Amino acid sequence: MPCRSQVHHIAKVTERPIVRYRRMPIEVESPEQTGYGSIAYNLAESSIADVPFRDLNLNLNDLVLSYDDHLGKPGLREIIAASSPGLHPDQVMTTVGAAAALFIVATSLLNPGDHMVVVFPNYATNIETPRQIGANIEFHPLTFENGYQLDIDALAARIRPETRYVSITVPHNPTGSMISEADLRRLIQIIEAKGCYLLVDETYREMGYETVLPVAASLSPRVISVSSLSKTYGLPGIRLGWLITQNDQLRETFLAAKEQIFINTSVLDETVAYQYLLNKDEHLARIKAMIHKRLQIMRDWIAEEPLMEWVEPQGGVVCFPRVVASASADMDLFYKLLLEKHGTFVGAGHWFESDRRHMRLGFGWPKEGELISGLDQISQTLRDVVGI
Ligand SMILES: Cc1ncc(COP(=O)(O)O)c(C=O)c1O
Repeated sequence: MPCRSQVHHIAKVTERPIVRYRRMPIEVESPEQTGYGSIAYNLAESSIADVPFRDLNLNLNDLVLSYDDHLGKPGLREIIAASSPGLHPDQVMTTVGAAAALFIVATSLLNPGDHMVVVFPNYATNIETPRQIGANIEFHPLTFENGYQLDIDALAARIRPETRYVSITVPHNPTGSMISEADLRRLIQIIEAKGCYLLVDETYREMGYETVLPVAASLSPRVISVSSLSKTYGLPGIRLGWLITQNDQLRETFLAAKEQIFINTSVLDETVAYQYLLNKDEHLARIKAMIHKRLQIMRDWIAEEPLMEWVEPQGGVVCFPRVVASASADMDLFYKLLLEKHGTFVGAGHWFESDRRHMRLGFGWPKEGELISGLDQISQTLRDVVGI
């Protein structure tokens, strides 16, 4: 039998783990968990199409599968740092996808009860990790009615003296909205004046249509940038992301977290990433041309679809349209028929804790013909559901 102090210890441990892990719907119901085989038209992804390894033409036979530099492969960090003037490669730390970077930032900066402000809706982890830590989360809503635009003054008004950090995602997931460079710089000035940190999840940064913002962390030691190769380049399988900070003390804390979780990022992943990024400009030109075409397909479809309305995205390969309220559509039936009868998968609104009338449509992952067919299936399913 355990003694009294052991019982007390066990009770304490089960009452309040440091992070209360709970699987998120966006991961439980993700296409890879649902089974790619059961989906004909996959409009649920937020990246461009996944790249087959053979297309990279790499010969990795000489690679030694050793531990490596804990911050990340130096050549890779050099390429990443070169994306904005003023950054040093040692201000970059590679991580297992942007997901691990976000986890490291939240667990490094937050204690239970700490105040933080996060844009809502958002990529689930940006909310979920602070929530499971037990932080005092204040949402800053982006609304359809306001064109999913981030109002910097309204956001600033939420910052308190005790706020640890403000978390924004630009270009935004799931809406594809952006802010201007002037607004980013103004927000950073506010953050500096208030003395908290700004986390910018810029996983979709290079996919801005009119503007590609500077790496936010290059603008101030109060800013932490997070990104990865998953979305813009279609390499989620190498799980290669990074965070950037000019703040040496924060960098040491983040490195300590990384060393405790995975020591260093896989040398295989880092070598593939490095080789790929040696031809970054070439890849990016091709990817941007593809996005341009896909966006036009989305515009044409929405213009012809009276049962849907949208806010046109400004970056990335997702948008967050909704079924018009007047359709009174049974959304449970809609999602069921859409997948089971029409073989089409989308990111349902509840993935983003939003009304299920909204759905995230990814237009960069499917082939062009699949995208057109998937949109057609959405239109047909809507008509099945509303009975016209
Ligand atoms: C905004 C945002 N941040 C981070 C991630 C995590 O991506 P990864 O860990 O593959 O880099 C995602 C994935 O959907 C995302 O949309």
